[in-house]
Parts: sequence; C-alpha cells; structure tokens
Amino acid sequence: MAVYIPINIAGVQDAQEKPSKTYRLDLDAGRIVGFVDNLEAVQQALRQVVGAYAIAVIEKGNRDEIIAARQSSPMAIGIGEGEFFLSSDAASVIEYTQDFVYVNDGEIAVINRHKPLKIVTLDNHEGRVDIKKLQMSISQLEKGGYPHFMLKEIYEQPKTIVDCIRGRISPDTYEVKLSGVIDNRGKFLAARRIVFVACGTSWHAALIGEHLIENICRIPVEVEYASEFRYRNPIINADDIVIAVSQSGETADTLAAVELARKAGAFVFGICNVVGSSIARATDSGAYIHVGPEIGVASTKAFTGQVTVMAMLALAVGRERGTVTEAYYNEVSAALLHLPETMEEVLKVAPQVADLAKIFTYAHNFIYLGRGYNYPTALEGALKLKEISYIHAEGYPAAEMKHGPIALIDAEMPTVAIATPDHTYEKTASNIEEIKARGGKIIAVIARGDEQVRRSADFVIEVPVIAECLMPIVVSVPLQLLAYYIAVYKGRNVDQPRNLAKSVTVE
Ligand code: G6P
Repeated sequence: MAVYIPINIAGVQDAQEKPSKTYRLDLDAGRIVGFVDNLEAVQQALRQVVGAYAIAVIEKGNRDEIIAARQSSPMAIGIGEGEFFLSSDAASVIEYTQDFVYVNDGEIAVINRHKPLKIVTLDNHEGRVDIKKLQMSISQLEKGGYPHFMLKEIYEQPKTIVDCIRGRISPDTYEVKLSGVIDNRGKFLAARRIVFVACGTSWHAALIGEHLIENICRIPVEVEYASEFRYRNPIINADDIVIAVSQSGETADTLAAVELARKAGAFVFGICNVVGSSIARATDSGAYIHVGPEIGVASTKAFTGQVTVMAMLALAVGRERGTVTEAYYNEVSAALLHLPETMEEVLKVAPQVADLAKIFTYAHNFIYLGRGYNYPTALEGALKLKEISYIHAEGYPAAEMKHGPIALIDAEMPTVAIATPDHTYEKTASNIEEIKARGGKIIAVIARGDEQVRRSADFVIEVPVIAECLMPIVVSVPLQLLAYYIAVYKGRNVDQPRNLAKSVTVE
C-alpha cells in the first residue's frame, strides 16, 4: 500500500521552485509524486498532533499567507481593513477592529492577502466564516486615571452590577428574566442535581451559587474544581445541569469539564464574562455577566458579577419550580436592583482600609473566617491576598477554627473575620472572642452600628447590610481593597503578580 506523507526536505528544493515546497512522497515507491500546498501540509501534520495548541504557520519566503489552527487553546481572528490580526484574546486588538472570527477546535483558518478569509476543518470540509462584532471600547481597556487596573475594576463595581442586571430585573414587578432560563425552562424544571465546575475565583463564586440554588431552588448542588472533575470519572446523568463558571471562558480545565459533561449527556450552562469565548460557545446555553474586560490578574468585578448572575439564576429557577416565597423573591430582587448604590456605599471604606493595610504589611500569614454564604467570601478574600501580596492566607469556616487553625493564633497572625448579621452571627462572635483570648489580632467586617463584635475586634470595617444571600458581594469589596493596599505597600506588581496568568489556557 502506498503511504503518502507531507515532508519538507531541505536540499530537495527545486531551484526553480522558491520558496520551498512540501513534497508528497510515496514511501513504497520511494519517490516524490507531487506537492502539497500549505493548507494540506498543516492539515496532515495536525491530524497527528495530540494536545492543546494554537499555531500560526508561515511558509518561508511566502509573505501572502498564514495558516492558523487551534485545539483547546483560544484563537480569534480580527478582521481589519486590508489586514488581519491573530490573537488568543480579541480584546488585545480592539484598537484595530471590532470584527472577529473565532476559530473552533479542529478548524484551520487560511488567511491570504489576496483572498477572503477561509475556514476549513482538519478533514478539509469548508467551515462557516462567522463574523462577530465585539462590543468593547478602547477606554474600557485603559486605566482611566487609576494607578492599577485592579483598583479601577474594584471601583467599577457599582457600574458593572448595573450592566450585569440590565434588562434582567423589572423595577416595577421585581420579576427576574434570564433568557437562558426561559429558553430552557423544561431542563431547569426537570433538573435532579446541579454541578458547578470552575477554577480559582470562579470556583469561590460557585460555592456561593451552591448556597443560593440549594436555598432558593431546593435542587441539590455540588461544586467541583474543573481540574479534578475532568479526571475523576464523575457520575453525570442526563437530568443533571452542569454550570461552568469562568470569567475568561478560556480556562482549559473548565473547558475540558464542559466537553466531558456534554458528552455524558448533561445540559451545560455557562456563566462567562468574555462574549464568544470558548466556554461560552461550548455550552448549551448560559448567562453572560457583562462586567466588561477584566485586566487585573486578580479577579474582582468578575467575582461580584458571577455571584449577581447566580442570584438572578436562583430566583428565576426558584420561581419556575415554586420553591421560593413571593416575599423572599421580592426582597432579594429589590436588593439586587439597589445593589449598585450599596456598592457605592461600601466603597467609601477604601481610605480606612488603606490605613489598616499599612498596619498589616508585616504579617506573613493571615486567616480569613466566615460562615454560610460568607465562608466562600473568606476563601476569596484569602486568595486575593495570596495572589497579589504573596502573603500566605487561609480561608476557613469560622467554627472549624477549633479543629486546627486556632493553634496558629498569636500576635503575629492577624485574623479577618466576617461577622455580618445572619443566623450564625452569635457563634462567629464567640469565635472572635476565642481568638482574642489567645492574643490574636482581629480585623472584623461588621454591619454598620454593630457594637458587640466592635468591642472584641481590634479593628472593624463597617459595611451596609442587604439580603443575607447577597452579602458576599458587599463584603468582598473591603477584602479586595485590603489585599490591594497591602500589595501596594509591599511594592508588589498588583496587576501582574508573579507566576500567575489571567487566563490559564493550558493544564
Ligand atoms: C486564573 C486567574 C484567576 C481566575 C482563574 C479562573 O488562575 O488568575 O483570577 O479566577 O484563572 O479563571 P476563569 O477565567 O475561568 O474564571
């Protein structure tokens, strides 16, 4: 049997055939039987490649054509006036064009100076050139007078929450409408279980989603690290809903978890920020958080946007399933509508948090405590500090303190305790007493006017109080600011901390 392989042989170049050609060899006959063009050469080569890649192939000496392909790594082609841009993130070339074609897995783009853009598959089927307009302005990508993107993004939160809820909650009836729920009502009514898959900050938001959905929709929820889920042979049923949470929509592990869940027959819903991203496209349906581009590596406005969408999702699904009372639905919905003002209010703590941060730059370790809805907030607060200040920090459920971390408490190890009003408030207050009795320093996040915890804490940060299930959104603001200012005082590179990437597109 004759075997044909493309091979580029240096020295077999025909003097008349510059630039070099890829020859088709018949191995049996031992001779060259023709040429393959660049596209075919790339197709044949990539059929043998395993793993994730995003590549652009240029033939030596050929200035007219670029062949680009991707598998599990993002790729967008910007279409300008007589020019193209190849990028892993469309936002990076928004200065030049708003028109993009997103290359899918298994597709190859042929970008030729003299021809229209062509998309073909590895098996040489012609694909669709689907041009999407990216609604983003260059000003969204600039610091707008702030010293760091992270600070700008923290301060943007009142506005990003407006964008996130726009058109989704009626100010007259408080009704929450998410098209992803309306279009898939049957799936949400029939769901026996919801499984969240996510990484990093998005995983913390998913932990809050678990509380929201279990409380409001009475559907059992599991929250999985996407990287664990994809490799542990999970049980997935056809009546499961898998919700993938991802700011970038490009995290490789989350994308792989989505693919696995879809193959297993689950309905997959995405909560993403980047419109048209790989996860957004790979899911069956979803809800964007619409918080605009997030540039700082440490996620801030995306976290609060994700929790906001999850609250709306829980309300919309809870109403369909009849598991939420009218009064509670209206209370949470009204609080969501007023959330932008609440966020403006809570941002006023910034100067006080900046002063506090100065005091704590000495610390090498921090503990963050919270319970219920605010246990994930404590995890997220600790993650922010770790990411940008390089101070070791652990988030813990407050009551678990006595099973280990309390041994660590001394004057050198500050505790950030979230003690806003909820049914475990008294218990958290007594945990704070226990820490104090062991000489620990306590920064407590409390409700305005709370006198009880104020008496035992060394420092307090007062925040406005809204519906308990939305408190993580409010409380996370001073925790973001605390991490930010400590990192600034320590001279860290806030927007690009060492060893971290904004979007982890590899395993
Ligand atoms: C990286 C980023 C984190 C982010 C995580 C998940 O680690 O540095 O800020 O939370 O990826 O990213 P995703 O885009 O999927 O939310």
